[in-house]
Amino acid sequence: MIKRPYWYQTAVFYELYVRAFADSNADGHGDLRGALTRLDYLADLGVNCIWLLPTFPSPLVDDGYDIADYYGVHPTYGALDDFKALIDAAHARGLRVIADLVLNHTSDQHPWFQASRRRQDPYSDYYVWSDSNETYSDARIIFLDTEPSNWTWDEARGQYFWHRFYRQQPDLNFDNPAVQEEMFKIARFWMDLGLDGFRADAVPYLFEREGTNCENLPETHAYLRRLRAMMEAEYPHAILLCEANQWPEDVRPYFGGDLADPTAPGDAFHMGFHFPVMPRLYMALRRGDRSPVVEIMQRTPAIPANCQWCTFLRNHDELTLEMVTEAERQWMWQQFAPEPRMRLNLGIRRRLAPLLGNDRRQIELLNSLLFTLPGSPIIYYGDEIGMGDDIWLHDRNGVRTPMQWDASRHAGFSEAETVYAPVISDAVYGYQRVNVAAQISNPTSLLRRMRQFIAAYKAEPALALGDLAFIDHPDRALLAFRRSHERTTLICLHNLSPRGVRIDLPTTHDLLADVTWAEGSMTLPPYGYRWLRVA
Ligand code: NOJ
Repeated sequence: MIKRPYWYQTAVFYELYVRAFADSNADGHGDLRGALTRLDYLADLGVNCIWLLPTFPSPLVDDGYDIADYYGVHPTYGALDDFKALIDAAHARGLRVIADLVLNHTSDQHPWFQASRRRQDPYSDYYVWSDSNETYSDARIIFLDTEPSNWTWDEARGQYFWHRFYRQQPDLNFDNPAVQEEMFKIARFWMDLGLDGFRADAVPYLFEREGTNCENLPETHAYLRRLRAMMEAEYPHAILLCEANQWPEDVRPYFGGDLADPTAPGDAFHMGFHFPVMPRLYMALRRGDRSPVVEIMQRTPAIPANCQWCTFLRNHDELTLEMVTEAERQWMWQQFAPEPRMRLNLGIRRRLAPLLGNDRRQIELLNSLLFTLPGSPIIYYGDEIGMGDDIWLHDRNGVRTPMQWDASRHAGFSEAETVYAPVISDAVYGYQRVNVAAQISNPTSLLRRMRQFIAAYKAEPALALGDLAFIDHPDRALLAFRRSHERTTLICLHNLSPRGVRIDLPTTHDLLADVTWAEGSMTLPPYGYRWLRVA
């Protein structure tokens, strides 16, 4: 018998980029001690679990997803003691902490890779080498704007090495049992520091097989199940969150269990990001038509009862458009990335508020969907105050600028002369206007609204655990659905249009406004939303 709910099924997550959050030693870079000083802010916001982006020693070609040492901390972020202190301080406030586990690749500066460049070396087989750059030619290129191929020639070894991301990020060879074992060791090391689990990076690509697209292979699933079995045996409280940017039916196997038996518990990932619903939230809103969201949710298979989806509006990467059709992608680019610089690879390098023209109603509406559709919501740091971006910064750095705490110099992020990236300071999104301190003292701010969302979400288990049923309505601008759990039925209403929409309702209690609406018809204002409990 599975006992629900597990903590992660009802949790609100917060994605924290350490470099951007708070600088404790005035070197211009955020660090672990700095993040520690801001934990009370997160506790007050009401989130349950922090996801820390990578803080390993790294040449930072891919901002730390290129790891040079799995057992350390990048000196600008602090040291292992600081990592442990951050986890302990979070736990003391009732916050959990997960961190990235980067399985697929290392930095080319990792000693394993340097050793692997010598054919006679014991590490020679740690990476994927080939005499031909035509091996695995059915695999797509992910970092399309930078990499012409998944193979790069290595002069020292006289062979090509395989990489799904930057050429400075060679893929590990998971066919090598020693590599498989190394990853278990690394997972144990970080779990022993007190983590509550991992966000496992780029998991679809662990194994390669000729004649396939090298994604979601059976060998990959088998390895990930072994990882879960180890975690389950040694760290049963911890979670594994799957980063697989795939269609829902292709993510389903990452939860494990038995595809033919919906009652069988999951035995792979506890959680998985729901990538495809994300762009469709923006699409539905801009079109004023619920269909894209309804269709993708209807295409989403059931997951085992001990699992949960993770939903998000934005993260530290570009808003990915991999899980839409070519025509939809072109439309999304036209609508949300009219300037070429806003586009990156198959996505859009912008934050939530600028994507929505800083329209407060639309920002709230998408957040309302984040909290009311199935899945545990993840908030990307800064989006809770409507931070802006800087499309002119390199790669995805424009959505990774310093957190805006107050109106003082460098937004209260750092006391250094210069900081790692310019603080947003334009007339609309600049820290002088958009900052935590100002929004805490303003009862109608976005931040205060986000706190309300989180509090209401935590108070009403049907939002996290309820079944989903869409409500039909002749006006397609109305995205309405029921969430039913035990004896509770919620009706969640979202008006995707800039005009009023009318709907007939039974008597309900409004969870956000804390009022009761008598049976009858209700007009939702432009971009309005309601979370209603049926009496
Ligand atoms: C996904 C991460 O979110 C992204 O930032 C990174 O570049 C790739 N995986 C490669 O690790």
